[in-house]
Formats: sequence, C-alpha cells, structure tokens
Amino acid sequence: MSHPAAEPTPAVFAPGLLAGQVALVTGGGTGIGLGISSLLAELGAHVVIASRKPQHLETALAEITGRGHRASVVQLDVRDPERVRAVVDEVAAEHGRIDLLVNNAAGNFYAPSATLSPNAWKAVVEIDLYGTFYCAQAVYPIMARQGGGRIVSTSMTLHYRGWPLMAHATAAKAGVDALTRTLAVEWAPQRIRVNAIAPGPIPTEGVRKAFTPPADSGVPDLFAAAEEKMAAYAQTSIPLGRWGTPRDIANMVAFLASPAGDWITGAIFVVDGGEWLAKNAG
Ligand code: COA
Repeated sequence: MSHPAAEPTPAVFAPGLLAGQVALVTGGGTGIGLGISSLLAELGAHVVIASRKPQHLETALAEITGRGHRASVVQLDVRDPERVRAVVDEVAAEHGRIDLLVNNAAGNFYAPSATLSPNAWKAVVEIDLYGTFYCAQAVYPIMARQGGGRIVSTSMTLHYRGWPLMAHATAAKAGVDALTRTLAVEWAPQRIRVNAIAPGPIPTEGVRKAFTPPADSGVPDLFAAAEEKMAAYAQTSIPLGRWGTPRDIANMVAFLASPAGDWITGAIFVVDGGEWLAKNAG
C-alpha cells in the first residue's frame, strides 16, 4: 500500500533499551504481534514468540534472527492453561526470568449474536479473555520472585459503545480491561505493572480476516475496499488521517516495557489515531 500506514516509523528508542530483558509475546509470529516481537528484539530483548501455528513461528524466527536479534519460538494455544503454565515455566527455566508478557493472541470474527454457536462464542472468549488470564497467572510467580515485571494485554475500542456482530469479542475485551485494572491493583505490591493497549484499525492480514463481515450483514467491509477507498476512509474517519501500523502498537509496548513505564499500571491506552472518539462524536 502506498498510503502512510505502510511507511516505517523511524527508531525512537535508545539502542539496547531492553537489553537483558526476556519477553514472551503470544500470537507474536504475525501482524501486530510480529511488529511487537520485532521491536522488542531490536531494542535488545530476547523475545520468545508463542503461536498456535508452527509455520508462523518459523518465518517470524527467521525474520528476527536474520536481522541479528535474539528470539526463540514455542508452540502454544493460550486456551490450554496447563500448556501455558508449562511453556512459561520452560521459558523461565531457560532464561532465568520473564520481564515482559505481551498478551497479543486474539481470535475474532463477525457473526450474528442470534445464531452464534456455543463453540464459536467459546473459541473467541477463550482465546481473548481466558488466554490472557492464564498467561498472566502463569507469569505471576516468576515476576513476583524476581521483584517485578510487566504485562501488556491487547484490548480494543469496539466495546466502548457496542459493535454489531462482535458480541463474543467485545465481551471478551471488556473482560480484558477489567482484568487489567484488577490485576494492576492486586499485583502492584509485587511490582508487576499491568496495562493494556486498545489498537485502532490496522490492516494486517489477520485483522482483515477477522473483520470481514458476512456479505448480507450491512456492516461495511473497510479492509476489503480498494486502496484508494481505504485511503479515503482514513482521511475522513481517522482524525490523524492514516491507518495504523504494527509499529504504532509496538512503540507503546516498548515504552511500557522501558523504565519510562515504571509508574504506569492499570492503564488502557487507546492507540487509534483518534478513530473511536471521532466515530462517537457523530
Ligand atoms: N462465523 C461464525 N462462526 C465461526 C466463524 C465465523 N466467521 N469462524 C469460526 N466460527 C465458529 C466455528 O463454526 C466453530 O463453531 P461450531 O463448532 O459450532 O461450528 C467455532 O467458531 C470454532 O471454530 P474453529 O475454526 O474450530 O476455531 P479455532 O479455534 O480453530 O479458531 C479463530 C478460532 C477465531 C482463531 C479463527 O476463527 C480465526 O482464525 N479467526 C481469524 C483470525 C483472527 O481472528 N485473528 C485475530 C485478528 S484481531
């Protein structure tokens, strides 16, 4: 794409900012997750990329280590609490610590609430909400033992006002917000900072797949529009005039993982070019 969303942001953080840190990024092999993994590794962290799909792991690992940065991979479905605990324990045993957990794994799709099957509801809520809790709970003893850590989870803005065909995802992300605030307070004595980021529209392949509405739903398919239409949408509907990029979200994660995030906990950062506020203003 030729619009500004495709342009790389210049480096804004000090080289080696996260040197010595160990980060676990769920869903870190593609899209926004890969953007986060890449930036953390660029800044000196050892990034453990977790994904359900082995093919995502291989390409992400090659991309990051090919640029001379440190990363490793692990296959993980965040819906399986025993496997989550085993993976977290393995990472801690191998690296001696886990400084940062990024709960990026998510699964969403448009579907009418009236006919959403129990399994469809469960699939999304289990990935987005249960998975976030399982991972947070698994890193807790390690972070508590080492004197602190950071957890950054992925939220959204669609539940701020309700969003048709997304009952499962909006309910799950509202839960992620609640969990973020509660864990922030509960785990502050252990110096575990717990925050979330609510990304705006970022046209990655996964987001495009997740946000393709059924043909007869009346919900506009923004991401399938021709390039010039997408650019026009950005100009008219996103106050800052462009689509987001994985780097926009990664920059916020890096900030929160750095010493600049020391006094920040329980916050949910909307990173969306002003989109949801502008939508709300109408
Ligand atoms: N509309 C309605 N129901 C759907 C659906 C859709 N688009 N996609 C999946 N489901 C239902 C399935 O029919 C199934 O329910 P059933 O057993 O009653 O038929 C249930 O959800 C689980 O489906 P399954 O394919 O087994 O799920 P999964 O656990 O392998 O994967 C997702 C679930 C959400 C990860 C998968 O749908 C997906 O890949 N989504 C797009 C990628 C994505 O969401 N990325 C995140 C970007 S924000």
